[in-house]
Amino acid sequence: MIADSPISKTTAPLIELADLHKVYRVGTELVHALRGVSLLIGENEYVAIMGPSGSGKSTMMNIIGCLDVPTEGRYLLRGQDVSRMSQSRLARVRGRQIGFVFQSFELLPRTSALKNVELPLTYSGVRHRRKRAIEALRRVSLLDRAHHHPNQLSGGQKQRVAIARALAQEPDIILADEPTGNLDSTTGNEIMAIFDSLHAEGQTIIVVTHEDHVARRCRRTIKLMDGQIVLDQMNEERERAKGISTAEGAAAAATGGSEGTAATGGSRPHGTEGVRPDGKRGAATGTVIEEGGPS
Ligand SMILES: Nc1ncnc2c1ncn2[C@@H]1O[C@H](COP(=O)(O)OP(=O)(O)OP(=O)(O)O)[C@@H](O)[C@H]1O
Ligand SMILES: [Mg+2]
Repeated sequence: MIADSPISKTTAPLIELADLHKVYRVGTELVHALRGVSLLIGENEYVAIMGPSGSGKSTMMNIIGCLDVPTEGRYLLRGQDVSRMSQSRLARVRGRQIGFVFQSFELLPRTSALKNVELPLTYSGVRHRRKRAIEALRRVSLLDRAHHHPNQLSGGQKQRVAIARALAQEPDIILADEPTGNLDSTTGNEIMAIFDSLHAEGQTIIVVTHEDHVARRCRRTIKLMDGQIVLDQMNEERERAKGISTAEGAAAAATGGSEGTAATGGSRPHGTEGVRPDGKRGAATGTVIEEGGPS
């Protein structure tokens, strides 16, 4: 059964997760990383996934991104059941529909920004690759660095290359796992400003973050704890505006020469206080246990 979700009933579900479980086996030990996650995410949503370390965020993102399959439960991507697909079919779906952005950028080191964006298009058999790669770099305002190698780019610029690489695939969904995690707050806010404008242009974006002010820029926040969803709420416009103005304040302070200004967002906590998991533990009994996870 799908849990109550704040998305509009008229929004077509792009992502439908139904009672997902993921159990990893490490030696003789079983790790129940997801314990019955049900969720609908529609077109053009802008979602933050939060939760403590080990709560299952990356596990859920890996499944949504078709890097891995659930042990139990169903995942429909645009109505297509991808939860039991073979690795090769999953790879095809992934190449066509998902764009990834990671905390550590994951760029090829001895390759120009342009080639980093262009190369994955070769594997997906896309035509006019150079044109697409240039357009993607333009969208993240990095055309002037197209021929720089990653070690000639700042952290924020590397992340913009990674976003361009994701965009060039024209994916249905951009999945970003802690995209601002390796960046100072001002640069992190610049990256979020790019996501804000991509969302305004119609892109569906899901961002894993530990930072309240990052989550507050998204339209919706989902919080995981112990492999279960314990909070799923729409973020108020007022709070979003606050997150953005704090970011702009930090950027202005940085250009004014003040160092290390932290954009910590407003003083109000994120509204997750007092929300607890229901205490139910999905039983591992009867589930298919899988060895390891995605490589
Ligand atoms: N490939 C794997 N094999 C075995 N256990 C795993 C694997 N990947 C994750 N786990 C375990 O599953 C649980 C959820 O991990 P996950 O990486 O999804 O957490 P997370 O919420 O992303 O944490 P973080 O905020 O630290 O990135 C953890 O207990 C973790 O140790
Ligand atoms: Mg993680």
